[in-house]
This record gives sequence, C-alpha cells and structure tokens, in this order.
Amino acid sequence: MTTLEDIDLDFVPFGETGLQTSELQFGTWRFGKETEQGNVEIDEERAHELLDAYEAAGGRFIDTADVYGGGASERWIGDWLEDRDRERFTIASKIYWQIRSGDPNSLGTNRKNVRHRIDALLDRLDTDYVDVLYIHRWDDETPTREMMKTLNGLVEDGKVHYLGASTLRPNAWKVAKANEIARAEGWEPFTVAQPRYNLVDREIEGDYLEMTRSYGIAVCPWSPLGQGFLTGKYTREEGLTGESRAAESSRFEDSYLTEENFDAHDELDAVAEEVDATPAQTALAWLMHRDGVTAPIVGARTVEQLTENLEAAAIDLSDEQVDRLTEAKPDPYAGL
Ligand SMILES: NC(=O)c1ccc[n+]([C@@H]2O[C@H](COP(=O)([O-])OP(=O)(O)OC[C@H]3O[C@@H](n4cnc5c(N)ncnc54)[C@H](OP(=O)(O)O)[C@@H]3O)[C@@H](O)[C@H]2O)c1
Repeated sequence: MTTLEDIDLDFVPFGETGLQTSELQFGTWRFGKETEQGNVEIDEERAHELLDAYEAAGGRFIDTADVYGGGASERWIGDWLEDRDRERFTIASKIYWQIRSGDPNSLGTNRKNVRHRIDALLDRLDTDYVDVLYIHRWDDETPTREMMKTLNGLVEDGKVHYLGASTLRPNAWKVAKANEIARAEGWEPFTVAQPRYNLVDREIEGDYLEMTRSYGIAVCPWSPLGQGFLTGKYTREEGLTGESRAAESSRFEDSYLTEENFDAHDELDAVAEEVDATPAQTALAWLMHRDGVTAPIVGARTVEQLTENLEAAAIDLSDEQVDRLTEAKPDPYAGL
C-alpha cells in the first residue's frame, strides 16, 4: 500500500516568478466552511490532519483566502505553521469579497479595503508576508490603474511577493490591460492566475490560456475535480447520494449533473481503467498534462480523498489518452 511519504510530490517552475511550486497545491476553501444546512465541512482538527498529510506527501504550497471559513482557514493554517519553518511553505491568499454588510467599501480592491485586509490576513496567518496575493474576483468599481498602484505598494512594503488574479474567462483582457499598465509604470504585474478549470469546465481554453501564455503567467486551476463530480461518486441513475458537501449545495446539481458531463465521465472511466487509476486521479492527471497548466489546487474533505488525489502525480497518460479526454467535452470556443 502506498504511504503518504511514498508520494513525494515534485516541484515545478512557478511561471516566471523564479520560484518552484509543488506540482499539486493544497486548497483550504472548506476549512471552517458552513454548508447551507449549517454543518461545518472541515473542523480544525481535520484541517490540521489534512495539512499534516499534504506535508507528509511532500506538498509545500497552501492556498487560502481571507473569507474562507470567515477567517478560520487562515487562522488554522497560521496555528499549524507555528511548529514549522514558515519559509519551507509557499502561501497564497486572496481578497475581494465583501466582509461587512452594508459597507460597500469592504468589497473589492479599493485602497482602503486592500490595505486593511492585507494586515488582517497576515495577522491571522501569523506571518510577515504572503507569497502570492490574489484578487479573488475582478472589481469593476476600482480603476485598474488605481488597483495596480495599490497592489504594487504591498509588494514594495514586503507584505506580498507576487500578485495573482483569480478570475474567470471574460476577464482575460482585463488582466492583460492591468499588466500593460504595470509594465509602463514599472510596477509589479500579475504573475499567477487562478481560474476554474477541469475536464467538464473548459471555458478558459482559448483566449484566457493564450493570455496567460503570452504574459508567462502561472496557471493554478481551482475545482480540478468539478467539486467532486469527476470522482465517480455521482451517477446518472442516482444523482446526488451519500455523504457529500455537494448534496448540501443547491447549485451543484444543475451545474454538474448534466447528460453532457456524464458522457465526458464515461470516457474518463474508460481511460481510468486502462491506466489502473481512479476517475479522480485520471482527471487530475489529465489537467497536469494540459499545456499551460502549472499546478492544480487539490481540495479534499478527508485524508483518504487527499491521498487518492495526490497519487495522481504518478500517473502517466499517453498522448492518445490525453486527446480522448480532451475531446470528451470539447472547448465550446475552439475555432472561433
Ligand atoms: N479562486 C476561487 O474562486 C476558488 C474557487 C473554488 C476553489 N478554489 C480553491 O481551489 C481549491 C479546490 O477547489 P474544490 O474544493 O472545488 O476542488 P475539487 O477537487 O474540484 O473538489 C473537492 C471536493 O470534491 C470531493 N472530493 C475530492 N476528492 C475526492 C475523492 N478522491 N473522492 C471523493 N470525493 C472527493 C470532496 O467533497 P465531498 O466529499 O464533500 O463531495 C472535496 O471537498 C479550494 O480549496 C480553494 O483553495 C478557489
């Protein structure tokens, strides 16, 4: 039986930052997160077990955000790091979503909000800097030039090393515009992107990935397993079953449990059998083989799930298998 230590994740170049990132990053969105039914998905003890497991497998890149679990994710990571050498880990966090109801200035990337929130998140993480600070979404209220100037100030202050854009496909041109402004002013540009990308969510193929390639931006996909859809635990016949966060989310069923997605899953099952792996491992391996992808962000609710997912790093797919999976749900914008 494979142990966590056997997994021994590799480092890969982190875009053009000069850093190396673990080939699979670890995402902590579900730490302290309450479901629509009021259950906590991952409590503090489980969170620390998951971080222990990721570290034992050689993982060194942790992804969080200031709103995850209302700040619990960052706090629990900070507590966990207390017994470790923080320098051995690369930590990314994010800011954007509104934190005070009725206060529009607590949303977005205006200077007041950004400066307040970077200090609050560093305090929770109990660190002097984050390696990457993402804008969690694009703020259309704050002029791009103003945002880039503010973010550059955080880099100059040493509170942030690199800037990231966690954005969706329609914002590709906005990231490009921001980087052109930064280039003209000698400010720090976005060097990391965090878009949604997996076998059944393919909207970034085309212009978004062209943009990241053109600017040498590292790409770290979120929801690499379609929030669990690509693990094989949902079927056409039974839909949502078993113990799963997705069963407590009103949006999951409509977005993922579609005929088109189940057709793509059939091809995933076929390739998984050929390479003697699980659907989850095969879906992650496909993503890791995609041109332009730097390191997917793996999520997991249990140590067993995390172990299964991290084992994907050892799976080799042939070009023919990669192509079959790619064609299982083609890019809707291809050729346009
Ligand atoms: N920038 C953004 O806007 C954004 C958005 C979303 C996520 N993220 C980041 O990306 C990370 C990963 O996203 P995600 O959680 O959506 O990733 P995901 O890998 O697509 O989904 C993870 C969920 O799928 C299920 N799962 C995972 N592995 C499994 C396995 N082997 N067998 C069975 N079920 C399994 C678990 O939920 P159940 O067991 O409950 O089904 C788990 O919580 C987050 O933690 C966060 O850091 C960023």
